[in-house]
Amino acid sequence: MRVNGTPWRTIWPVDGVRAVDIIDQTALPHAFSVRRLHSVEDAAQAIRSMQVRGAPLIGVTAAHGLALGLASRADDETLLAAARLLAATRPTAVNLHWALARMQSRLLPLPPAARVDAAWSEAATIADEDVDQCRRIGIHGLQLLLAGRRGEGRLEIMTHCNAGWLATVDHGTALAPVYAAFDAGIDIHVWVSETRPRNQGLLTAWELRQHGVPHTVVADNAAGLLLARGGIDAVLVGADRIAANGDVANKIGTCLKALAARAAGVPFIVAAPRSTIDFACANGAAIPIEERAGDELRLLHGCDSAGVAGELRQLPATAAVANPAFDITPASLVDHIVSERGCCTADRLRSLHPEAADG
Ligand code: MRU
Repeated sequence: MRVNGTPWRTIWPVDGVRAVDIIDQTALPHAFSVRRLHSVEDAAQAIRSMQVRGAPLIGVTAAHGLALGLASRADDETLLAAARLLAATRPTAVNLHWALARMQSRLLPLPPAARVDAAWSEAATIADEDVDQCRRIGIHGLQLLLAGRRGEGRLEIMTHCNAGWLATVDHGTALAPVYAAFDAGIDIHVWVSETRPRNQGLLTAWELRQHGVPHTVVADNAAGLLLARGGIDAVLVGADRIAANGDVANKIGTCLKALAARAAGVPFIVAAPRSTIDFACANGAAIPIEERAGDELRLLHGCDSAGVAGELRQLPATAAVANPAFDITPASLVDHIVSERGCCTADRLRSLHPEAADG
């Protein structure tokens, strides 16, 4: 996607050196900065601290992290230790574990001397596949939106968190149909939820602003009223893990939007690549929910009138807080799932991915 007219991906290998550059998403939307990752520890820290975030991008970063981890030694012990370090960063997004499993099944059968090149090439393939899958999610998702639109007027979409190109390598998942619609000249507007406590909605607004897509930022709690008032064609969100029965883990607050959408009769659509579908996970109850630090609620991030980024305390350091980062939307509240293969209802995931063996 473009930033000030220049095409960017969220992660890319550095020419000539065994290193990876990322867009530091903790600086956005107030500053655009690039950070270089030189080691598996750097990659793990970038995932843990959410400099990179979003299920698909977490997976792609982990794949590159494993390649970085083989810089000095490429024996089994080093490879497995690097995979363990990366796997322990965040629990909910299954793309992390999917990417590590794919990398290990590619690398472990190889002699150590062949592993470094194979690791970089496999990581690059995973990144390119993600771009193609998201582009195709955009195409299938747009067809679904047009098939379900209320009338000939402006297409009104509500979203939650950031499932745009910043959460993938490019194009995004939930925002891919939005970009496809806009680029096709379709009149579209997006209701963007702030998504407390880390405000990923501000990343969505930043992306849409860069692309020129009309949007309005709202408080998370405004969603129920806006949906009940009518005039919204669909709620479109991403996912961190979709269980075999169609239950969906996504950013905290997603389930509340699904409930409000159902009450208002508005279609609730989940967009995610195959790498986010976990057929080994029977249902939502089996999905680990990340609990993040309380300071994400006690402190606010922003920039002052001089544009200097900083943090403000809104709760005492001793205030008791709870900060689950994701929730589970039951399959019964999901009207459609869109992947690179097409669209299906939540209970028919296997029809879209028949190759998925049990477990
Ligand atoms: O905590 P985050 O910012 O990594 O959470 C991201 C989300 O919940 C996204 O909606 C999801 O990962 C899909 S990203 C295409």
